Amino acid sequence: MEKSALIILFGATGDLAQRKLYPSLFRLFQKKELNQHFAVIGTARRPWTDEHFRQVISESLGDIGEKAEVDEFAQHFYYQSHNVNDSEHYVTLKKLAEKLNQQYQCDSNYLYYLAMAPQFFGTITQHLKSEEILAPGFNRLVIEKPFGTDLKSAEQLNEEIRAVFPEKEIFRIDHYLGKEMIQNIAAVRFANPLFEKLWNRDSIENVQITFAEELGVENRGNYYEHAGALKDMVQNHVLQVLALLAMEVPTRFAPEEIRAEKVKVLSAVKILEPKEVAEDFVFGQYDSGHLGDNQFLAYRQEENVAPDSQTETFVAGKFSIDNYRWAGVPFYIRTGKRLTERGTRINIVFKNLPVDLFQTTAGLGQNILTIYIQPTEGFSLLMNGKEIGPEYLIRPIKLDYRNSEELTSNSPEAYEKLLLDALNGDSMNFTHWDEVAQSWRIVDAIKEGFIENNCPVNLYPARAMGPEASFELLEKDGHQWIWQPEQWYQERNLL
Ligand code: BG6
Repeated sequence: MEKSALIILFGATGDLAQRKLYPSLFRLFQKKELNQHFAVIGTARRPWTDEHFRQVISESLGDIGEKAEVDEFAQHFYYQSHNVNDSEHYVTLKKLAEKLNQQYQCDSNYLYYLAMAPQFFGTITQHLKSEEILAPGFNRLVIEKPFGTDLKSAEQLNEEIRAVFPEKEIFRIDHYLGKEMIQNIAAVRFANPLFEKLWNRDSIENVQITFAEELGVENRGNYYEHAGALKDMVQNHVLQVLALLAMEVPTRFAPEEIRAEKVKVLSAVKILEPKEVAEDFVFGQYDSGHLGDNQFLAYRQEENVAPDSQTETFVAGKFSIDNYRWAGVPFYIRTGKRLTERGTRINIVFKNLPVDLFQTTAGLGQNILTIYIQPTEGFSLLMNGKEIGPEYLIRPIKLDYRNSEELTSNSPEAYEKLLLDALNGDSMNFTHWDEVAQSWRIVDAIKEGFIENNCPVNLYPARAMGPEASFELLEKDGHQWIWQPEQWYQERNLL
């Protein structure tokens, strides 16, 4: 059904708006979720005109729509040059908002989208209140990460925005939560008795979560130098996935219940002592490298990166969850830039049987459930079976399911889903403050340990799967990374 809303977008000239938000809004328009009764005010410092803004929007859509449709869509967009610290600008913004609210009959529902650096969140929200921009319909605040740079700054930021918006009207984006296969984790766990019965320390040996990126830091050196992989990926995406995998069964499949379980399990994640960080975590940074004929620069040679930068572009680590379900089961995580292949996947490695009845020479292979998040989407289950033939040989067999390419390419993109959820007021796939706070508690301790121990940032060649130390991390527990995409390239001398 068509939504009525006025969207006020701060950061309208930015990369995120052009790459993700405008195409997502357009798809919602094509599906008539947004139709007549919506308008968008884009704000940023640059002095653009409405015409120029609409032009940028049309261009950002590439070839996803017919010209007439794109033109009609773009007519709903207005631009206002805005300095977020200048109260006067909010007065103009208010006038424009009221005019468009009437013109497009938006039912006085306002959605404020902050696609900009977090140091401005407080000022913007305070001004929305003091200049009385908030409307009598709904007032929802959508904010992008990073939410603070540590627990303390996040708390302060939270206080500032909570002085204006109640928690239920705040939609903190973690775009991974909008991805199809992340949403599928709950289905795998809670719709399959087979897995739910085994989902604990009795049957699971270890869990592996990999977020691998092929790309380097691109043009985000300024931001990334201060963030690093730990804050850029682990604090949010990785810990969210870990929470979804490890939480208890919620009593209902509803936002409050799921959130309560996620918070509970995050609070059970062991907070590491500084010396444990040195043992359980590995940090890396990409050096120059090649894959086949393609050469890649070292991180330190990238734009806006210090030539002696100690920022980590890779983290691998071991999390322990101190509760009945998971005591003793390591949750290994790794994430990095300029790795061999782009891929997010989860491997659930099951314990082996106590006795190998078949006396298999290499030992029985382990059952492994893999959840492929991206770029391919699906599941596989590695089992053992008998090889066809006269001898009784056991060999691994893979049951493999992938969502078809046609289905995946037609399914809504993460941002489209999340925007629609926010317009509907559905907070299931957004991060609650309690989750953010728990995640920072965990990550702050790792960061502290990193500094206190002067942990090395190990160089790894671009397109490798991280430094050697990341492999040793598992080896010392008698395990290994299940997903090793580099082997295929190494066998062909491409790496
Ligand atoms: C973002 C990080 O949150 O996620 C980026 O800031 C990262 O550094 C990106 O590249 C990865 O998202 P996706 O959807 O491309 O896997």
